[in-house]
Amino acid sequence: MLSRAAAFIPLGLLSIMIPFSEALPHPMSEFNQPPEPGQIPVYQPKAVVTRNGMVSAAHPLAARIGVAILRQGGNAVDAMVAVQMALNVVEPQSSGIGGGCFILFYDAAQRRVYCLDGREEVPAGARRSDFLNAQGRVVEDDLTGGAAVGVPGTPAAMWEAHRRWGKLSWQTVLEPAIRLAEDGIGITPRLRQSIGLNRSRFLRFPTSRRIFLKPDGSVPEIGEVLRQHDLARTLRLLSQHGPAVFYEGEIARDIVRTVQNAPYRPGKLSLDDLKRYRVVEREPIRFSYRGQEIVSVPPPSSGGLTLGLMLGILEQSPIASCRPGSVEEADLLARAGAASFADRNAYLGDQDWNPDIPMRRLLDPDYVQERAKIALSHKPGKPFEPGLLIEGRFQASENPREGQHTTHFSIVDAQRNVIACTTTIEHGMGCAVVVENRGFLLNNELTDFDLDRESGPNALDPTPRPRRTALDAPESVGGKRPRSSMTPVIVFKNGEPYITVGSPGGVQIIGIVGQVLVNLLDHKMDMQQAINAPRLSSRNGPAGLEVLYPQRRQLVRELEQRGWQIEPLQPLFDTWGSAHGIRIRSDGTLEGGADPRREGAVRGW
Ligand code: GLY
Repeated sequence: MLSRAAAFIPLGLLSIMIPFSEALPHPMSEFNQPPEPGQIPVYQPKAVVTRNGMVSAAHPLAARIGVAILRQGGNAVDAMVAVQMALNVVEPQSSGIGGGCFILFYDAAQRRVYCLDGREEVPAGARRSDFLNAQGRVVEDDLTGGAAVGVPGTPAAMWEAHRRWGKLSWQTVLEPAIRLAEDGIGITPRLRQSIGLNRSRFLRFPTSRRIFLKPDGSVPEIGEVLRQHDLARTLRLLSQHGPAVFYEGEIARDIVRTVQNAPYRPGKLSLDDLKRYRVVEREPIRFSYRGQEIVSVPPPSSGGLTLGLMLGILEQSPIASCRPGSVEEADLLARAGAASFADRNAYLGDQDWNPDIPMRRLLDPDYVQERAKIALSHKPGKPFEPGLLIEGRFQASENPREGQHTTHFSIVDAQRNVIACTTTIEHGMGCAVVVENRGFLLNNELTDFDLDRESGPNALDPTPRPRRTALDAPESVGGKRPRSSMTPVIVFKNGEPYITVGSPGGVQIIGIVGQVLVNLLDHKMDMQQAINAPRLSSRNGPAGLEVLYPQRRQLVRELEQRGWQIEPLQPLFDTWGSAHGIRIRSDGTLEGGADPRREGAVRGW
């Protein structure tokens, strides 16, 4: 529900200085210049440094809530749940209880990394034909409506992490988000842009229109107050009853009714699908880069393996000696990105449905070396072939429907427990359907399946099966999970946690995280510089370049002269990801960066 801004709530957007921060010297000033006027609303030139705990997230209020939980004696997992629930309120377009997530948690006491897969699943009744028109092609507006909804995983994943590792009560960590939803939040420039871009979708669904648009159907102004009473009540129920109320109780019934009766493209999600949903604990992906161990998530996310291959190729290149932002560096990034995406597109999907995914072979040092040789001698302009050339069912395909949305946050607590969590409802505002009476948006994650194909590692396969690769409950039956690009990362130096980072951005996520790591580990930037630096995205098609700084125009020309096809992309809020990271420095302090491309903020104490 929207109201006139009787009291405009000033958001951290306009006050990004952190009281407890100390300034860092910046030997590299190239990426610390302000952007051209009007391009980026917030610009934070320096990393934030604090000592005890830190949260970097896509919205200042979410980061602030996370730190408040840490200061109350909560650990990184408690803060994670509080931040996720707060993001549902302040950044409803990107993630929430209607979506899915991947969690990496470093448990300092056990010196062990856990990976929880809270990815959405295909409902048993969903069929690829739900997405096809009379000519057998994927319908144009496949992103909208109940048919695109996968079984949400985020409430179960947050609960599971909290049950196993949290310190404060579940009620305590949900309380700040409930209060925020009740009290209301100011509409930020990015939220307004996102509501505006989705206005015509919201107009199809009375439940969504009522929350996000004004009574006359127009888009609310920046600074108007958005109160979300239904969402507050839903979070209160979740707080009182845990996930059973979501997966089997009254919220489940409202989800199913909303999906099945959606006025546009209704879906087949059932009570059985919700009841069967299980979080899956998986073995993380591990590889090394420049002597540091990088840990990330395995399939159904393509993130960890593709990042491993990309960085493995770059490790054998002269990228460390290239000037950041130079044509030489961009050329190497484009090669490594394209070569690793050729394999990603061909081989990766849900490992429970594809036990023959060549996970080990893709990161085998001999294979990476061979791939690097091919990548570094490749003639730009021609796509890479997948390297393993496996006969039969593996076919190269990039799914053109993957969105650029999602959100990522990073947390480090006083005990040096670490969280990297990437979380999503897929496209901006998900499927655009708000659950009746419940105030939260549902995902459209089924569009991350390769809907153009009947078979293959990422084809929509509705048959429920026992899991093959879960660490905790291998006997549990589940639905196939669509391939993700989410790439939360924790880096270890001499066995100690060193960096936590990740980004949204759909298929661009993997390259964004790779570039941030190159900036940190090769170019020795601090976390904020590494995040600020202009981006390139190369996925075995035209290379995308972020048009952010004037020097990029020259770079486009130089890359074209080398034979690369370039697709310059404008910096809309959600075009170029939003990386949020923290580094644990050798003196024990925490150095945080947040992305100016959205409305990111670091808070610490
Ligand atoms: N929804 C974005 C991803 O899974 O990569």
